Amino acid sequence: MAISIGAGAGTARRVRSVPIRRALRRLTEDPAEALLEFAQEAGGEVVRLELGPFRPYLVTHPDHVQQVMRLEWTNYQRVGMFWRPLERLFGHSIMGDGEPWRTSRDILQPLFTTRYIATIAEEVSARVAGRIEEWDEHARAGRSIDATAEMSGILTYIVNRVLFGDKLSREDAERIVPAFDLVSHSLVYRFLMPFMPYFIRVPRDRACLRGVKQIDDVVFPVVERAMANPDDGLDVISVLCRSTNPDGRPLTAKQIRDALVSVYAASSETTAMILTWLWLILEEHPDVAARLQAEIDEVVGDGPARPEHVPRLAYTRMVLLESLRLYPSGWLLPRQVMEDAEIGGVRIKAGATVLISSYATQRLEEFWDRPNEFDPERFASDKGPDGERRHRYSYFPFGGGPHKCLGEHLFYVEAPLVVAAILSRYRISVRTPGPFTVAWAASLRPKGRIELGVSFAGRDRSVVPS
Ligand code: HEM
Repeated sequence: MAISIGAGAGTARRVRSVPIRRALRRLTEDPAEALLEFAQEAGGEVVRLELGPFRPYLVTHPDHVQQVMRLEWTNYQRVGMFWRPLERLFGHSIMGDGEPWRTSRDILQPLFTTRYIATIAEEVSARVAGRIEEWDEHARAGRSIDATAEMSGILTYIVNRVLFGDKLSREDAERIVPAFDLVSHSLVYRFLMPFMPYFIRVPRDRACLRGVKQIDDVVFPVVERAMANPDDGLDVISVLCRSTNPDGRPLTAKQIRDALVSVYAASSETTAMILTWLWLILEEHPDVAARLQAEIDEVVGDGPARPEHVPRLAYTRMVLLESLRLYPSGWLLPRQVMEDAEIGGVRIKAGATVLISSYATQRLEEFWDRPNEFDPERFASDKGPDGERRHRYSYFPFGGGPHKCLGEHLFYVEAPLVVAAILSRYRISVRTPGPFTVAWAASLRPKGRIELGVSFAGRDRSVVPS
């Protein structure tokens, strides 16, 4: 690692930097591991990645993460080179910054309270059970399922209820999944070349625009119908139709579309990906898998998994929290510096990009004992092995500060319900040989297709015993 003078020099501390060839090579090979490697070498200090015209700062020390995400959050905004490509998909809403973010956050936040989630939990569990029963056929025929596609399918089914109150047909809901995949994979080239002006085409630009059009073809007609027939439903689309801008004007169809598409993207892909990683983790840790199974057998029996089971699934929650430590779906949170700043003694000029990576921070050995080991026991309490409370920003899979994830409570209900529903009915095995690496995408997803074997946990329940 090279050392150069921090931007603004004078009394500034020298900033470490990763030379361009190494930074580019490692980031294209294995992006999340590359950031961890750079962070480890810097021992928690701010480090600069030399990527040609684009030279972002990697910030991983929990104190510095807290400074960016909470204490000085208005100086680190979700605008600039990284966020611009996402505007194609999200428009101007909750996944942006400034006024459009504030307006949509104020409208959406009251919807995702623990109380509201409790009112829909019953329906969520019924839906999960219904969707999972479709695997019976695969279990009978010994056919594999595609992990990512199936986890996304289940999540889409849940999100359809929460967001659209069933105003979206199942066919339309399932048409959205491949369209989002297309956009997510196509945007990667814009992320890899964030400095490239928009009038120059980069690979997969057309595919990205096609994916956005497919999403709009599904979402706009539903929005227009809901606006023409407003109801008093508590689903997100109904609430948006009744909401107004700060000046009292009703939201436009475009504002409603932007909010729905943003929350859809934030909620389904993130949860689907951590549930995909979970099967890979359990395959590698049979002791954890056995303990998880024992808890589900005891609490849920042979099902169905219901909301009242969730508070008793303590080990399941610990397994999910530890999975999110090692495989946080929102692994990269870029921010643009609005006014000259200083982080850890390094001066940073307005306009620069700061990269926060939960993947890197949550694996730093300065803050985590045996950081690469999967050990759900860490989450038996919020203290480390030395009895000290963990730094709040050494673990932030749901972000922090004013942009903290709106869906955390929903996750704590839906994810254990999905895991318990699956494991009370089936036994799962991973049929694709590992090791698994991380793909370059907005959320942390495993590279390639992952096949899961599904067999009945007990008897085939569709066959009535004679
Ligand atoms: C494994 C599950 C999830 C993970 C790991 C996750 C992670 C995150 C992270 C890291 C952020 C912060 C983004 C930033 O600071 O730039 C965020 C924001 C957000 N998440 Fe989640 N999320 C998950 C599930 C959900 C769910 C189920 C919803 C459903 C509503 C949701 C809705 C949102 C929204 C709307 C934001 C933007 C909040 C804002 O900027 O004001 N997320 N999420």
